[in-house]
Amino acid sequence: MGTQKVTPSLIFAVSVATIGSFQFGYNTGVINAPETIIKDFLNYTLEERLEDIPSKTLLTTLWSLSVAIFSVGGMMGSFSVGLFVNRFGRRNSMLIVNLLAIAGGCLMGFCKIAESVEMLILGRLIIGLFCGLCTGFVPMYIGEVSPTALRGAFGTLNQLGIVIGILVAQIFGLGFILGSEDLWPVLLGLTIIPAILQSIALPFCPESPRFLLINRKEEENAKRILQRLWGTPDVNQDILELKEESVRMSQEKQVSVLQLFKSPNYQQPLLISIVLQLSQQLSGINAVFYYSTGIFKEAGVDEPIYATIGAGVVNTIFTVVSLFLVERAGRRTLHMIGLGGMAICSIIMTISLLLKDNYNAMSFVCITAILIYVAFFEIGPGPIPWFIVAELFEQGPRPAAMAVAGCSNWTSNFLVGLLFLSAAAYLGAYVFLIFATFLIIFLVFTFFKVPETRGRTFEDITRAFEGHAGKGSVGEMNSSQPAKENTTNV
Ligand SMILES: *[C@@H]1O[C@H](CO)[C@@H](O)[C@H](O)[C@H]1NC(C)=O
Repeated sequence: MGTQKVTPSLIFAVSVATIGSFQFGYNTGVINAPETIIKDFLNYTLEERLEDIPSKTLLTTLWSLSVAIFSVGGMMGSFSVGLFVNRFGRRNSMLIVNLLAIAGGCLMGFCKIAESVEMLILGRLIIGLFCGLCTGFVPMYIGEVSPTALRGAFGTLNQLGIVIGILVAQIFGLGFILGSEDLWPVLLGLTIIPAILQSIALPFCPESPRFLLINRKEEENAKRILQRLWGTPDVNQDILELKEESVRMSQEKQVSVLQLFKSPNYQQPLLISIVLQLSQQLSGINAVFYYSTGIFKEAGVDEPIYATIGAGVVNTIFTVVSLFLVERAGRRTLHMIGLGGMAICSIIMTISLLLKDNYNAMSFVCITAILIYVAFFEIGPGPIPWFIVAELFEQGPRPAAMAVAGCSNWTSNFLVGLLFLSAAAYLGAYVFLIFATFLIIFLVFTFFKVPETRGRTFEDITRAFEGHAGKGSVGEMNSSQPAKENTTNV
């Protein structure tokens, strides 16, 4: 990618940060495989305590609670991002919250020995809290340490961490590995290991130079770190830009979530951030992941879990593809291609599911459509919403913006998980048309409202919003106002 060097210390810092994304993916994926086994544990434990066979309703409620409380923790965590990052710094925040991962992991890992349903549920809540914080910290840290020309590619690494986490959880969850009656607590508790690894490695990672200069006014420190991270002694231009941003910020101070909603300068980027997060979740990706096992089963796959793992592999491969595309094709284009492709695939899924009983080939069409749908997801709507939020805001409002974006993501994720099965029960195959409709709406929104941020400095991106606060489309205005020459070449 041009003259921009990828230095070992930059790779190291970004990789260590993405352990946080891995944790998010792992804990998202880990609970699905051992479902029946954990339900048995709930049944057995409650029977001992109540000295009676627990009702089916009680069991289902407790199981749903153990699954869903993770998202509740996630919402709370993502909303608290701002409390940490400005006080302790970006790196130290990531370090501190590993205590949550260890606490949550221990609670879940020992719940079977202690025969405690409460420990399982509390552990899931704490892990959710931890993951919610990670979904804010990681894209922010990566965005702040990466040079402009590599910000998108490295931002995609966040998503790669997530999908690898999901895949590892699926594989470890297989019955003969850790998804067994004896070992499932180990499967849940295993999240402690990455937490410990990250805690050992983080002290060797630098603090975000933007945080040091803009929030802490430690110019020398920031300069030294920038030189090491970007592998060039000549960072004066970047330091100058950071200082300009620092001056601008000193007039605004840190921005609270409330101020973020009130200020006209932030309305456009905030709307874009929220809608992009919604576009990720309301695309139905999690519903499809959930439903795929059922479809694969109907299509005659003996062990649908392997087909689901296959989908996880496609997921991972296309995240890597996106990594290489995002600095070439640009965020806006990739997001639109992803949304459009997913819309077409969901329509094909609907048709093939409706015709499944008439034509045998239709189950094959359906499986293919699902895999392509997953691929399109990772081209755009998977990785982009997370890091584009960090790009649309400057240092002052960024933490609050990450909090709002994270919270929209977790909330919509939660709602889709909650509502999908009942919607599918009412609508059958037509349920995918709902997602297709959402996808088309988001495609139109992206076309008219989302600016291209590739190769532009943070300052340049936010300036464009301020000059045109409240007026027409940002997409258009970019074409009339060429992006300021960026300091690095692509
Ligand atoms: C709970 O366990 C009892 C046996 O102890 C069994 O009869 C009952 O079907 C189980 N309930 C569920 C929902 O699996």
